Amino acid sequence: MKVIIIGTNHAGIAAANTLLSYPNIEVTMFDRNTNMSFLGCGTAIWVGRQVETTDAMFYAKPEDFEAKGAKIMLETSVNSVDYAAHKIYFTDKAGNEGEADYDKLILATGSRPIIPNIPGNDLDGIHFLKLFQEGQAVDQEMAKASVKRVAVIGAGYIGTEIAEAAQRRGKEVLLFDAAETSLASYYDPEFAKNMDENLVNHGIELHFGELATAFFGDENGRISGLKTDKATYQVDLIINCIGFTANNPLGGEHLKTWKNGAILIDKHGQTSDPDVYAAGDCATIYSGALRDTTYIALASNAVRTGIVAAHNVAGTSLEGIGVQGSNGIQIYGYSMVSTGLSVKAAEVAGMEVLYTDYEDYQLGGFMPDNELAKIRIVYEKESRRIVGAQMASKMNIIGGNINMFSLAIQEGVTIDKFALTDLFFMPHFNQPYNYMTMAALSAK
Ligand SMILES: Cc1cc2nc3c(=O)[nH]c(=O)nc-3n(C[C@H](O)[C@H](O)[C@H](O)COP(=O)(O)OP(=O)(O)OC[C@H]3O[C@@H](n4cnc5c(N)ncnc54)[C@H](O)[C@@H]3O)c2cc1C
Ligand SMILES: NC(=O)c1ccc[n+]([C@@H]2O[C@H](COP(=O)([O-])OP(=O)(O)OC[C@H]3O[C@@H](n4cnc5c(N)ncnc54)[C@H](O)[C@@H]3O)[C@@H](O)[C@H]2O)c1
Repeated sequence: MKVIIIGTNHAGIAAANTLLSYPNIEVTMFDRNTNMSFLGCGTAIWVGRQVETTDAMFYAKPEDFEAKGAKIMLETSVNSVDYAAHKIYFTDKAGNEGEADYDKLILATGSRPIIPNIPGNDLDGIHFLKLFQEGQAVDQEMAKASVKRVAVIGAGYIGTEIAEAAQRRGKEVLLFDAAETSLASYYDPEFAKNMDENLVNHGIELHFGELATAFFGDENGRISGLKTDKATYQVDLIINCIGFTANNPLGGEHLKTWKNGAILIDKHGQTSDPDVYAAGDCATIYSGALRDTTYIALASNAVRTGIVAAHNVAGTSLEGIGVQGSNGIQIYGYSMVSTGLSVKAAEVAGMEVLYTDYEDYQLGGFMPDNELAKIRIVYEKESRRIVGAQMASKMNIIGGNINMFSLAIQEGVTIDKFALTDLFFMPHFNQPYNYMTMAALSAK
């Protein structure tokens, strides 16, 4: 069987590795980029010089796949697909046009940053952060003494992380978001406000509930400032991080899409064309919290959906179990993790929920270097099943705990059942009456 994979980042790699564990599958991989397997999560850590090099931000090389018998073509853009003829058409790095045929096609074409649709958005000195090359460009800007004031548009995950990085590089940072807090898509205000305070304490100037309406430049076409619905600011650099959109030009009219343009897939990763599968940021995903189709752009999801699609392509029927969009962030040592839905997100989805909050020290009371941990568990009012959790602490051992809530959401565990769940106790890690159990026990 001939399988073509378009896109060789996290979803494409996971799919290829899975397919190549089967015999008799001829795998050909295409990507227009010069590299593969870039972990974008390293960008801000490197730009902020918390690490010095980028080499370890790539975990796979073309040779790895060639050694397993795959054909891999980087710097090769797939321009179109003839779904009826089972053919793809590409331009390779030498500029030559070519075609290749498939029995099954896996689209792993990912996502691209949303471009703010405002005047001046093509000026020099306006950047996005998606590709490694874009991270390098921002890093070069940070090295310029002339770049003193940096405006970051969007205080989601990328924006908050790059705001910290720019401040660590000695820049004055102005962080803008249309929402009233940072990280508003992931956390309720009671949590996000702690992050806002953390950012302010480190000198970041916050402009929330404020929309950029125009960028303006100097006589050389270089960015020199921005206008918002509230004021005008002089800045030397703009970094746009207002979210991703599914990258789906190859689906055209042929493949069914979701309301945001992502390729609609079922739990097997199959699209509306039985010979075409899709995985990762270009496709929809099943949400265990919503119990419905949604769109969540995360590397963790890309890996899982890539594996599921590839098993089904190879002939092993495997139903994906969906995701909860579990995520985490650490800014100046302050960690926040969340999974499923916040109260706000549940309400937007039309779900009636209750929540329970608790805050206590992480470790046994006699332990040194102890820190507070706070938690919110969100559960459906009627069924009492857990649909979300948020945690925050200066201690990063909360990270593993959120995965337990992800599993609880996936498996439909109620808040009452969770309250009685066996959680180990040992003072280096937690307390006998730990904050997670206490939150659940105090649920209405
Ligand atoms: C700065 C940053 C930090 C992030 N941090 C995290 C994190 O901490 N945790 C997390 O889970 N996620 C994180 N993400 C999100 C994560 O990187 C994405 O969800 C993930 O990359 C999606 O993987 P993918 O393989 O589906 O798509 P992509 O990574 O978008 O890859 C798609 C690939 O397809 C190729 N392609 C597209 N169209 C064509 C075509 N026509 N022809 C040939 N090739 C094509 C592209 O060149 C690209 O290599 C971060 C993202 C960024 C930018
Ligand atoms: N730690 C992590 O897990 C991590 C890190 C980086 C990125 N990612 C993922 O990568 C994807 C892209 O990240 P992102 O930070 O670009 O998106 P995001 O969805 O995390 O944040 C986008 C932010 O931009 C704001 N926004 C939207 N339109 C705006 C406008 N016109 N003006 C001002 N603000 C506006 C939103 O309110 C939101 O806070 C997300 O899916 C994210 O989860 C994850």
